[in-house]
Amino acid sequence: MKVCVIGAGYVGLVTGACLAEIGHNVICVDKENSKINSLSEGICPIYEIGLEELIKKNLKKKTLNFTADLAGAIRSQDIIFICVGTPPLPNGKPDLTSLDDVSKLIGSCLNGYKIIVNKSTVPIGTAKRVKKIIKENESKRNNKNESFDFDIISNPEFLKEGEAVNDAFFPERIVIGSESHKAVEIMKELYKSIINQDFEYDVKNSRNNRKKIPIIITDSTSSELIKYASNAFLATKISFINEVANICERVGANIIDVTYGMGLDSRIGNKYLRAGIGWGGSCFPKDVRALAFTAEEYGAPANILNAVIQVNNYQRYRIIQKAMDTLGIIEDKIIGVLGIAFKPDTNDTREAPSITIINKFLELGAEVRAYDPVVKKCPREMDDKVIIANDIYETVKNADLLILVTEWPEFLNLDFNKVKSLMKSPNIIDARNMLKKKSLQNLVSITGVSGFNCVLKIIMAIFTI
Ligand code: UGA
Repeated sequence: MKVCVIGAGYVGLVTGACLAEIGHNVICVDKENSKINSLSEGICPIYEIGLEELIKKNLKKKTLNFTADLAGAIRSQDIIFICVGTPPLPNGKPDLTSLDDVSKLIGSCLNGYKIIVNKSTVPIGTAKRVKKIIKENESKRNNKNESFDFDIISNPEFLKEGEAVNDAFFPERIVIGSESHKAVEIMKELYKSIINQDFEYDVKNSRNNRKKIPIIITDSTSSELIKYASNAFLATKISFINEVANICERVGANIIDVTYGMGLDSRIGNKYLRAGIGWGGSCFPKDVRALAFTAEEYGAPANILNAVIQVNNYQRYRIIQKAMDTLGIIEDKIIGVLGIAFKPDTNDTREAPSITIINKFLELGAEVRAYDPVVKKCPREMDDKVIIANDIYETVKNADLLILVTEWPEFLNLDFNKVKSLMKSPNIIDARNMLKKKSLQNLVSITGVSGFNCVLKIIMAIFTI
């Protein structure tokens, strides 16, 4: 099938590369010429496991092509995926400027029946909005005497950064929202080999057990809501467990055991129950805010959603509080931060907790050094007074406090003897609850979470030991 993917961001690139791999003819479009030039040479602009190889392979097979000519790509292809960004406006409402511009162009380029697929996370009602804009712009076509049919599909993505390629090939479900039976049948055909798990691609250690993938056919509004409600629910689970972790800290319970005990109940499950510094990234913050905004716009209460956001903001503040409890005055203290990306296996720093806490420490007059295995530049939103260190040990040298912010596996295997000898005072805040008591017990004698007298003082952000 002939597919056009608009937007070479992480959703567009993963979607395009995956559809090319299962045999479709894909043209991926972006307005940034430099991005298109690099992609055409097989250089992937984002750090996403397995993606660059997939792009290279399909460029070679000529099943995947990149262009900046949007109108040409719309005209030549039959299924148009919209994968443009919908960043949040200050009031939480998603900015639909790119989506509207693309819809206008699609309207003025129609030259046959086409299916327009909303893959970007878009507000409830966007399928109808796109349809209206396309219709309004039909009159701008050169061939305006002819009328062409088109259908809109809402087909949300459920790709986790760092695992996006795996998630694209082995999704937990495929959601198709449309009012057109014809378009739904074509989409089923497009995804046939994914639904039947009948393709050659394989990834090492994938959780691929090749079971048929459930496909949910619904109306476009329900499909749009499935996406928001899924992300908001996962964020709710995390905020819930963070609130429980704070209670654990007060009453002297162990959050890891509490979570384990809860998670064994299959009605609860153990996923998205890792307590820590809270959720970040380009999706949860934006989507929870957008759903709360929609609820309020339509007069439905958003009490839970607003509380979920509040709990998440508090979690970052907890780290600052713990640092103050340990160091007293923050001014002139040296603070080492391990991890800048919002989570491991990505170089994405959007709404990363590291940004909030580093900016705050700098504002309080500390010297902050940060290290991340893949983020090597100071993110745009981060105060550029931060020193981006070349390695872990440069980060901890003479530091008064070390904070583990992102749970990169390499931080688990730190040489804590060396860490301790390099630091001015061996204080660690483990903001992800990643350090295991076992891995430290030969080095330290830990008797409790606070007030203990040990070689290396570990101040857990959340009570774990
Ligand atoms: C999320 C969803 O998981 C995807 O299904 C969805 O497609 C995507 O958003 C999107 O809307 O595009 P992602 O933002 O890549 O994916 O990140 P997650 O791995 O879900 O993690 C989100 C945040 O929650 C991270 O900050 C992570 O550190 C935090 N988290 C996750 C926890 O604090 N505890 C947990 O137990 C799990």
